Amino acid sequence: MLDEAYPASFGQYSNEHTKAWAEKIKSLDAFIFVNGEYNHSIPGALKNALDYLYAEWNNKAAGFVSYGSASGARAVEHLRLVLSELQVAHVRAQVLLSLFTDFENFSVFKPAPMHSDNLKTMLDQLNSWGNALKTLRK
Ligand SMILES: Cc1cc2nc3c(=O)[nH]c(=O)nc-3n(C[C@H](O)[C@H](O)[C@H](O)COP(=O)(O)O)c2cc1C
Repeated sequence: MLDEAYPASFGQYSNEHTKAWAEKIKSLDAFIFVNGEYNHSIPGALKNALDYLYAEWNNKAAGFVSYGSASGARAVEHLRLVLSELQVAHVRAQVLLSLFTDFENFSVFKPAPMHSDNLKTMLDQLNSWGNALKTLRK
């Protein structure tokens, strides 16, 4: 059921690309967002993709892999705010990749070994929450 603040027309999509996007997100239990950082926030295209839907995101889980000169940390903080409004439960662990130390010449991916532990923790948390939240959507 949608929040009262949202009009009844929410979820009634007219464009084929929106219907396809809605079906894809509806079919998933959890998400891993992989994104860079633009002016201390998430890429505009990602915000647009999030804003297109609502109920399809609800009561699902999310984890993050980000990159940037500050490892995308500020973008992920913004993304967490947006996902809270969409009722997506975002796990604590995240993978933060520095353009300076995890990429050769800022382009070839050469991650530091420490990231594999963070990735494993993030995936474990995401798996737990993704499965637990299924019960709310039955
Ligand atoms: C307009 C613009 C703004 C950017 N702002 C930031 C920023 O605030 N912080 C940061 O770490 N990187 C910033 N970057 C660098 C991008 O995060 C970096 O180029 C990244 O590789 C882009 O990833 P993508 O091409 O996969 O979207 C910016 C790049 C552009 C073009």
